[in-house]
Amino acid sequence: MKFDVVYYEEIDSTNTEARRKSVSGAKEGFVVIADKQNAGKGRRGRTWESPAGENLYFSLLLRPEIPPEKAPMLTLVMAYSVARVIRSLYGMQAQIKWPNDLLLDGKKVCGILTEMHLQHGRIEDVIVGTGINVNGEQFPQELLDKAASLYQQAKKKLDRKELLEAVLQEFEKKYEIFLECQDLSYLQDAYNQMLINKDREVLVLEPGNEYKAIALGINQEGELLVKKEDGEIEAVFAGEVSVRGIYGYV
Ligand code: BTN
Repeated sequence: MKFDVVYYEEIDSTNTEARRKSVSGAKEGFVVIADKQNAGKGRRGRTWESPAGENLYFSLLLRPEIPPEKAPMLTLVMAYSVARVIRSLYGMQAQIKWPNDLLLDGKKVCGILTEMHLQHGRIEDVIVGTGINVNGEQFPQELLDKAASLYQQAKKKLDRKELLEAVLQEFEKKYEIFLECQDLSYLQDAYNQMLINKDREVLVLEPGNEYKAIALGINQEGELLVKKEDGEIEAVFAGEVSVRGIYGYV
């Protein structure tokens, strides 16, 4: 893949800009990066605080020729890639909270928002937007026990460009394999080794259905396998899983 990186000092949201560029014909590998977002988007309609001068906010435009139902796996590929890079560049024990949050010492350092657009039932684009808390020194009171930055552990300011380049390189390698096998069999074990949920009790929140279970790890489709209290094993796809002891769930 040829990366074509466009930088903005300030933008509404790198995902939104990547979509605009997609509509006007940008190719796979187009990357929007911004120093600041004034309308950064999180998952589930939340906002993503995006102050200037500290963090990495970037969106990668992809045009994979795969069935739409496989696209959510790309989020896991990005989460895995970022975790790998944080480990290899900085030696920090980044962990993954399924499906795609990255944690350091149980606090969130990275979030990913993937947006897909279809045309006549086929994928027109998939935009993988990643926000990494890199050099922030402080968080607002309400986020203190939930969010962290790489700086807080590194104790020095990190080079955002170096981090971005390493992530894109790592993602590209994994993406190529993904396009061939169209599942996550090739990184399932490695992903599960970094999975903070593994062997822990989780609260599965599905629409109209909430239950406790033990998380076992992801399967080849990126679904989280959980063992319910009655011993039955279920694969969780949609819905959100909360981890006991993390994000305040006790
Ligand atoms: C989450 O809620 O955890 C996902 C956060 C995703 C934030 C990133 S920052 C770059 C890209 N542009 C956005 O507006 N959101 C994503």
